Amino acid sequence: MSDVAATTDSSGQKGFGIDIGGSGVKGGVVDLASGELLTDRIKYDTPQPSTPEAVAEVVAKIVDEAGWDGPVGITYPGVVRDGKILTAANVDQGWIGTDAAELFAKALGGRPVAVLNDADAAAIAEDRFGAAKDSQGTVLLLTFGTGIGSGLLRGGVLVPNTELGHLKIGKAEAEHMASSHAKDRDELSYPEWAKRVSVVLEELESLLWPDVFVVGGGISRKADKWVPLLTCRTPVVPAVLRNSAGIVGAAHAIAAGAQP
Ligand code: BGC
Repeated sequence: MSDVAATTDSSGQKGFGIDIGGSGVKGGVVDLASGELLTDRIKYDTPQPSTPEAVAEVVAKIVDEAGWDGPVGITYPGVVRDGKILTAANVDQGWIGTDAAELFAKALGGRPVAVLNDADAAAIAEDRFGAAKDSQGTVLLLTFGTGIGSGLLRGGVLVPNTELGHLKIGKAEAEHMASSHAKDRDELSYPEWAKRVSVVLEELESLLWPDVFVVGGGISRKADKWVPLLTCRTPVVPAVLRNSAGIVGAAHAIAAGAQP
């Protein structure tokens, strides 16, 4: 996806978003004016192996189950340019080179679809409706999960496909040392893990000087256990849309006419 505007006049409209992750695929109907989910999320485990065809089947099942017949915004956990997938850090390698926009459009009966990076979608949602709603400056959202996703916005406009979780710090990639998966893998306490997260945030702030970090992913539910321990100088706010940020951002992106 190229340019994604983070604002649109969508009063009274509904949209549909699907968030594809390494462990789950979830979707729901979104109120595009408020950013609220209008239905319960429909969620299935990500098929293993997570091949494009297997995931597309799950996407179609979710849309069908919801009885939704309009356009669909879909997130993918890697680099997406003009609907095509360029990386696959935490999903099946078969995604690389796939025209995801074409694949999903076909699986969904030819309707319009937009495909965008998962953290970009979450950043759009938090900027428009959530933790960064009133922020005018540079917002850097980081999602902590299997990897670390990043979404960068300035004045509501997204810079797509920043991949700051892959920033090298010493010999390690940021996401390998400080994702929430790394916390579990290395059996770290919150204070131990917060030290690693601080190293990443301090490196990022010295390069990008954001006005605010928004921290998301499942572990932001326990934000009180680690956000106060962070030592970076930039204010850090927990994401507020939690599990629905990707869905909301994806629904918003297709409504904004982002792509294809
Ligand atoms: C991918 C990103 C993605 C993040 C979170 C990283 O490994 O490279 O594109 O946003 O994981 O899913």
